[in-house]
Amino acid sequence: MNLTDFIQRPAALNPARLPQHVAVIMDGNGRWANSQGLPRIAGHRRGAQRLKELLRYCKAWGIGTLSAYAFSTENWGRPTPEVNFLMQLFERLLQQELETLHQEKVRICFIGDLSILPKSLQRIIQQAMQKTLQNQGIIFNVALNYGSRQELTYVCRAIAADVLQNRLELDNIREETITQRLYTQHCTEPDLLIRTSGEKRLSNFLLWQLAYSEMYFTQTPWPEFDHHEFHQALLAYQNRDRRFGKLNQLAPLSIATEV
Ligand code: FPP
Repeated sequence: MNLTDFIQRPAALNPARLPQHVAVIMDGNGRWANSQGLPRIAGHRRGAQRLKELLRYCKAWGIGTLSAYAFSTENWGRPTPEVNFLMQLFERLLQQELETLHQEKVRICFIGDLSILPKSLQRIIQQAMQKTLQNQGIIFNVALNYGSRQELTYVCRAIAADVLQNRLELDNIREETITQRLYTQHCTEPDLLIRTSGEKRLSNFLLWQLAYSEMYFTQTPWPEFDHHEFHQALLAYQNRDRRFGKLNQLAPLSIATEV
C-alpha cells in the first residue's frame, strides 16, 4: 500500500488550514498495556504501530513534518529491561521499515544526542538519515536521547566556541543564531503539539521550538490514538485563533487616553 493512498483526508478538515508540522508526545503506552493485562513492552510495540499509521495520515493529508518524542534523556532512568527493549525496538523497526519509508519519499531525521546509543543502532540511524536525505515527501523527526535543555546547552557551547574563535561577533547573536544550531534546523517549528494520556506538560520536549505552537491534550492513551483521534486534534487546531502575540483586528485606540 502506498503512503499517499492510505486514507482519505476527512472532508470536515479544511486543507488550507492544516498544520505544516505536528509534534507528538506519545504517552500512556505502559498504562494502556497494564489496563489490558499485558506487559509494558506490549504497549510500546503497539505504540510503534500507531506512530507508523500517524506518519501515513500526515503524508496523505499533506502535513510536511511529523516529530515524535521516542526516548528522552530522562528515560534512561527506567528499568534496564525496558530501556533495552526500546533500543532493540527502534533498531528492528528501522531495519524493517527503511526501504519502504525511502520508497515513499520519507526523510528520516533523528534528533538528540545519538553518541551514547548502542553502536548497532547508531549505524542504522546514520544509514537511514543518509539514504533518505534528499527525500521530499515528508520529514519524520524521531527524538532519541533527546532533551531540550541538553539541546540548548549544546547550542550555547557551539555559539561560545564560535565567538571565542572569532567566527561570530557577540553583537551578531540573534534568534536565528540559535535556531540555525538546533537539531531541528532543517524544518519549521511545530504548529501543533499533541500529548496523549492525560498529562499536560512538555517534559523537556522542543522547548524553544514550541514557543508559539498550539497544544492539544487528550485522555486517550497513545496505543489507542487512531485516525479518528488525529482528526479530532486537527479539528481543534483549526478552531484556534493563532495571533502570535498580535491582534487580528484593529482594537479601538480610545484605551490609550484612559491610562
Ligand atoms: C511513553 O509511554 C512512551 C515511550 C517512552 C516510548 C515511545 C516509543 C514508541 C511508541 C516506539 C516508537 C518507535 C520508533 C521507531 C520511533 P510510557 O511508557 O511513559 O507510558 P506510561 O506513562 O503509561 O508509563
